[in-house]
Amino acid sequence: MPDLSINFAGIKAPNPFWLASAPPTNSGYQVMKAFDAGWGGAVWKTLGVPVVNVSSRYGGVNYKDKRLIGLNNIELITDRPLIDNLKEIEEVKKHFPDHAVIASLMVETKEQWHQIVKDAENAGADGLELNFGCPHGMCERGMGSAVGQEPNVLETITSWVKEVATTPVIVKLTPNITDITQPAQAAVKGGGDAISLINTIQSLVGVDIDNFVTYPVVDGKSTNGGYCGPAVKPIALNMLKNCAQHEGVNIPISGIGGIETWRDAVEFLLLGASSVQVCTAVMHYGFGIIREMLYGLEQYMVEKKFDTIDDMVGKALPNVLTWENLNLKYKVVADINEDKCIGCQLCYTACEDGAHQAIGLPTEGGRVPHIIEDNCVGCNLCSLVCPVEECITMERKDDGKKHVTWKERTEAGTIPTTFDDERGGGVGHYIPSPADALKKKEKYRIKR
Ligand SMILES: Cc1cc2nc3c(=O)[nH]c(=O)nc-3n(C[C@H](O)[C@H](O)[C@H](O)COP(=O)(O)O)c2cc1C
Ligand code: SF4
Ligand code: SF4
Repeated sequence: MPDLSINFAGIKAPNPFWLASAPPTNSGYQVMKAFDAGWGGAVWKTLGVPVVNVSSRYGGVNYKDKRLIGLNNIELITDRPLIDNLKEIEEVKKHFPDHAVIASLMVETKEQWHQIVKDAENAGADGLELNFGCPHGMCERGMGSAVGQEPNVLETITSWVKEVATTPVIVKLTPNITDITQPAQAAVKGGGDAISLINTIQSLVGVDIDNFVTYPVVDGKSTNGGYCGPAVKPIALNMLKNCAQHEGVNIPISGIGGIETWRDAVEFLLLGASSVQVCTAVMHYGFGIIREMLYGLEQYMVEKKFDTIDDMVGKALPNVLTWENLNLKYKVVADINEDKCIGCQLCYTACEDGAHQAIGLPTEGGRVPHIIEDNCVGCNLCSLVCPVEECITMERKDDGKKHVTWKERTEAGTIPTTFDDERGGGVGHYIPSPADALKKKEKYRIKR
């Protein structure tokens, strides 16, 4: 069987699945329950300066019948007494010495940082995570994302922590920034042993249109919050890739953002994360989701012949290039499997109105559409809207022998320089005339 254990920047854990710093790690009771269920590590709910929280605190984004594809919160760091948290960290470590307990920290002054680092380490924390990501409340007080958005400040505070820390220091980054690699590099310069990303994305999840206030509502008023859950995964993956591919960010990365299944976790690992953290999925479904996550990851590793987690970390990175390095000669065209098609014609509408008018409807009976190959640019849209699995597939049409990129063409001086340049894409591509739009559908179909 594959070995799921990890050594993340010196922090050992029986598996790469950690709870992110958030309500599920607010107490020793919860963390013990989670470890007992199978989680490999936990980043404790951020410890720091005294705070007062508001009620209510969360807003959700539902999409059709799926609840909570996104979660927004205006919660601050822990409001429990520091001494209680420290005692509970100690207790958890006694029961679970081989599991990773990481103390998330957020304070203001150098003296406060030094003190809280010592407190957390004395309590037995295996590592520290510096919360430079919270995008609401704490940033108004110069902490959280206010630090994460200022690489110089982030570097300075990281170096303060490193002056006294004896355990590995993970710097947690905010996604509320144009280029995540800048604070990531600052974390390296400040002496950080690892980074984690992403914290929540500053957001408003909706407006109460009867009472004219955004969610969540606090006595008739509201404020922007931090967005997380499945909806943020694509943003997290891209930021992870940017950091993992950057030569200035040569430290381990803990991936966070929208992880709900073993498959999500694998995607983060393949893009360079060497541990993963989960918050919203546990808030939604509870600690028990770990069973399937562990089983799924293990089965995947068996299937792919990965003996250790390290074997798979970053495996997808060499295949993620800049656009200018993609092969312009690669050509796919949509293909409809008539036996699977249920005739809903969603593909027709999507291609007709939203893409390239490359799908025709039958002129004599039946409902199965057909692809007009000459018009199909291979954009994938029809296959994405088709409700039947594997009904529309993208078939390769080039012979695989030619390979040329925009970069190579630029270097060779063969890029188009005018809009009617024959070397351009789309020249001569069939587009119906504007007047065709007003002709009767039947006639229009026959004409094509
Ligand atoms: C209610 C709530 C409270 C959170 N509190 C903290 C916190 O105290 N410290 C921290 O670093 N991140 C905090 N986070 C952010 C999470 O640790 C995590 O970075 C984010 O939710 C993205 O992961 P997810 O998509 O799995 O939820 C919080 C998130 C939520 C939803
Ligand atoms: S969307 Fe799929 S199922 Fe519907 S008509 Fe097109 S090919 Fe058939
Ligand atoms: S791949 Fe794009 S262009 Fe081709 S048929 Fe589908 S939607 Fe139309």
